[in-house]
Amino acid sequence: MTGASRGLGAAIAVKLGQCGAKVAVNYYGSADLAQGVVKQITDAGGNAVAIRADVTDEEDVARLVDDAQQQLGGPIDILVNNATGPQPFIPIEQMTWDDCLAQLHFFVKSPLLLVKQVVGSMKERRYGRIINIGSEVFEKGVPEFANYVSAKGAQLGLSRSWAMELAKWQITVNHVAPGWIPTERHADDPQDKKDEYAAAVPMGHMGEPWDIAETVAFLASDGAKFITGQKLSVNGGNSLE
Ligand SMILES: NC(=O)c1ccc[n+]([C@@H]2O[C@H](COP(=O)([O-])OP(=O)(O)OC[C@H]3O[C@@H](n4cnc5c(N)ncnc54)[C@H](OP(=O)(O)O)[C@@H]3O)[C@@H](O)[C@H]2O)c1
Repeated sequence: MTGASRGLGAAIAVKLGQCGAKVAVNYYGSADLAQGVVKQITDAGGNAVAIRADVTDEEDVARLVDDAQQQLGGPIDILVNNATGPQPFIPIEQMTWDDCLAQLHFFVKSPLLLVKQVVGSMKERRYGRIINIGSEVFEKGVPEFANYVSAKGAQLGLSRSWAMELAKWQITVNHVAPGWIPTERHADDPQDKKDEYAAAVPMGHMGEPWDIAETVAFLASDGAKFITGQKLSVNGGNSLE
């Protein structure tokens, strides 16, 4: 579970722990928060460990997967690609290729590095759940955000192509696309922007991290074994595709 120290990732990790999964709570800078997520899972009777790794770095990813398997005692059944770095808004005139690359590192490079580490064992066992956390922005085409929006589109392409490639091994690959769900990093965003966004959502409010956690838990469950290659928008009807 990448980027599980806070935000949506923390909620997903706790939910998967509640469902009985042994959870590797990956983090990068927030060791204390990651330990807090582990404690929440273990206090509830679950099994979890916190593992620091930069998921955009090949060596770190290899160590992350090794450590997770050793500490949790088995191969990885469920991979959730969730981690994100900063997501700056940048007008075209100021945007650089490096701004785009910074997003692609999180949403294409990192999932690729991770899936390469786990897919061999998933194929051998003819079992696996790969869940990529996308975004509704690919449908909405948010202005001054092409760096992030294009990378989220590329990530959707990954999800679909991998789903087709891995279906014959009964490995499912799905893509969960949240709407705007305020996390700690949105604390300083103006309230009027949040209100404006919420008013435009057909259900009339923003979602909560737990909404994403429930969706991921479903896609990771046996009940979703025949669902692959799908994008599931969790955004109160804010997009229809
Ligand atoms: N929240 C929303 O409104 C929203 C909407 C649509 C899509 N999404 C997507 O949902 C996912 C989670 O977003 P969020 O809002 O929950 O983000 P967030 O609150 O900013 O959390 C980001 C997580 O990623 C981790 N991280 C950052 N750099 C990392 C690195 N190099 N290696 C490993 N982990 C790293 C952070 O760990 P540390 O704190 O330990 O550094 C943190 O746990 C992202 O893919 C995002 O694009 C979010």
